[in-house]
Amino acid sequence: MREIFKRIFYVIYFPASFVWRKLDTIGSWRETRWWIAHLPNAMFTPATYASYAGWLQNQGMFSALFSLYLKKEKPNIMDFGCGMGGLAPVSHYFVKNGGKYLGVDTDAKSIAACRNTYGDLQNCEFYLTRDQNAWYPQSGTPQPKPGEIDWPVANGSQDLITAMSVFTHLQEKDAFQYRDKIYEVLAPGGLAILSFHIVRGYENPNTTYQFKHRLTPGWYTSNVNCPEHAIGIEHDVLLKFLAPKFKVLAHIEGQVTGGRHPSLQDLMVLQKI
Ligand SMILES: C[S@@+](CC[C@H](N)C(=O)[O-])C[C@H]1O[C@@H](n2cnc3c(N)ncnc32)[C@H](O)[C@@H]1O
Repeated sequence: MREIFKRIFYVIYFPASFVWRKLDTIGSWRETRWWIAHLPNAMFTPATYASYAGWLQNQGMFSALFSLYLKKEKPNIMDFGCGMGGLAPVSHYFVKNGGKYLGVDTDAKSIAACRNTYGDLQNCEFYLTRDQNAWYPQSGTPQPKPGEIDWPVANGSQDLITAMSVFTHLQEKDAFQYRDKIYEVLAPGGLAILSFHIVRGYENPNTTYQFKHRLTPGWYTSNVNCPEHAIGIEHDVLLKFLAPKFKVLAHIEGQVTGGRHPSLQDLMVLQKI
């Protein structure tokens, strides 16, 4: 039944989105029309569904964050787990005259959609990694060697790494490997903006955010069958996880686990030590 409702939803919502995007375009400034034109169609399909409101909230929040923290001219930005490439239009403003935005994801449909939507953005590229995630299974992608992380960037080469809603799909062991990899590929003093679900004992009615099953000390999931569905972490454990490699420049709290800010997840703005 759920599947039928889902199908009906996409049959109505997806075609309707073309109409209201068109109407929105007619009444908007040229600068705003650019953002509407760079909304990926695939966002409205089952590949990686996100709502229009959620999309816009992210564009605004990251436009402000990048403007405040990313001071380097012509920066190299790597977006780990880029999904539908939500940060490509934002990053484009910073790399259009030099530098590069590289979106990396394990999901072949998402990378195809990114290449399709953002082919016109100068200095923005996308890479399908061989790295795997149990919640985003891929068929036909060759496995990386054990312990290897498949990112096509050199150590010390990146000025900003983002990972939005990606550590929220990594168990502790993998999270440590990616933390260390981020540290390695960042340039001295480079920035990272990473999101997490901090477990606060808050009861969200959405079962995805009910982090009741402890995996390892301080690390939780809401889904024992596939823990990578959603991973939460205690605040003090997160600070210990970050401390050896990064200075915390800002912490924007996530509302889905009871934080006080409008961001959905906890955002940590970090600087490589
Ligand atoms: C919840 S989505 C978030 C997508 C995007 N960052 C956003 O905020 O819209 C998580 C993304 O991380 C990707 N992902 C998960 N594990 C990954 C890994 N080990 N390497 C690369 N991508 C990964 C998934 O394929 C998925 O696109």
